[in-house]
Amino acid sequence: MNNSDVRIVEVSPRDGLQNEKTMLPPDIKIALIDRLSATGLKTIETTSFVSARWVPQLADAAEVFRRIRKVPGVTYPVLVPNEQGYRIAREAGATEVSVFTAASEAFNRANINASIEESLQRFAPVLQEANAEGVKVRGYVSTALGCPYQGEVPIEDVVNVAKRLYEMGCYEISVADTIGVGTPAKARAMLHAVAQEIPMRALAVHFHDTYGQALANILACLEEGVRVVDSAVSGTGGCPYAKGASGNVASEDVVYMLHGMGLQTGINLDMLVATGAWLSAQLNKPTASRVTKARTTA
Ligand code: HMG
Ligand code: MG
Repeated sequence: MNNSDVRIVEVSPRDGLQNEKTMLPPDIKIALIDRLSATGLKTIETTSFVSARWVPQLADAAEVFRRIRKVPGVTYPVLVPNEQGYRIAREAGATEVSVFTAASEAFNRANINASIEESLQRFAPVLQEANAEGVKVRGYVSTALGCPYQGEVPIEDVVNVAKRLYEMGCYEISVADTIGVGTPAKARAMLHAVAQEIPMRALAVHFHDTYGQALANILACLEEGVRVVDSAVSGTGGCPYAKGASGNVASEDVVYMLHGMGLQTGINLDMLVATGAWLSAQLNKPTASRVTKARTTA
């Protein structure tokens, strides 16, 4: 990857849909992923192999994963919370998975019913099996800039959890502002501290746009050196166990900004906009992407 290349990790089929009350049928999810695959995106987080009781929207994970068109050169990671999820994901054909924990105890308890330490212990066999099977594992650190229960989250807690995941064998660590409360200087300071322990090329940023700070935070982190950015078309998203969290930063807006800065993504913005507009129509709600709004309203 060239230093002027940025990889977008498209999370709309997973983060984007997991909190949606309108239950989408598998065919629509498959159509979404297939459309995204045609835009030039290289990484599409496809679904979650979690408990259907906890996230009913993604109960069809295995069917969706099996039926999507796997485009060569595109990877389709899936979220797994434990070994059980890992095994089901593998049976469905997954070749890359993401594990997820947080920098704050209370959020982790609400989200996966485990302490941070317990969650890391749950991931140990996942990483061992994945390593033996040649499956790549991505790690998320939620609440990296604030927690809905605890409020402030010390930077050293983010660094410690990120480091543990990296040492366990995650190839990439995505530091996440789950509830979208961060501001640019804080985001940059957090990323800077994490990058003292983990090479910048193995880091990604994941911003929710609750307070309208996401693009500014991404810019600050790009200036700090990050080159992997998570986002979701139409600005969909939010964690059901993070009260007050709104959608992810919209992929269309991120790509527009990156291309305007001369950074390459390999993504066709027109196709991304069309896909975002199509998704918001399926969800019967207005897009949260400013670029899509600007380009699709007469
Ligand atoms: P639990 O109830 O504590 O677990 O849930 P358990 O081990 O007692 O199992 C309870 C039941 O779930 C059992 O079934 C298990 O078999 C089943 P029962 O015997 O009652 O019929 N089960 C599973 N079923 C399917 N797939 C599995 C699985 N594991 C157990 N993998 C558990 C613990 C982790 C399962 C639960 O808390 C869970 O699924 N949580 C997922 C929550 C979630 O997906 N949150 C959103 C994603 S994280 C996020 O959005 C943040 C992120 O975007 C970054 C950011 O923005 O910060 C990544
Ligand atoms: Mg998220």
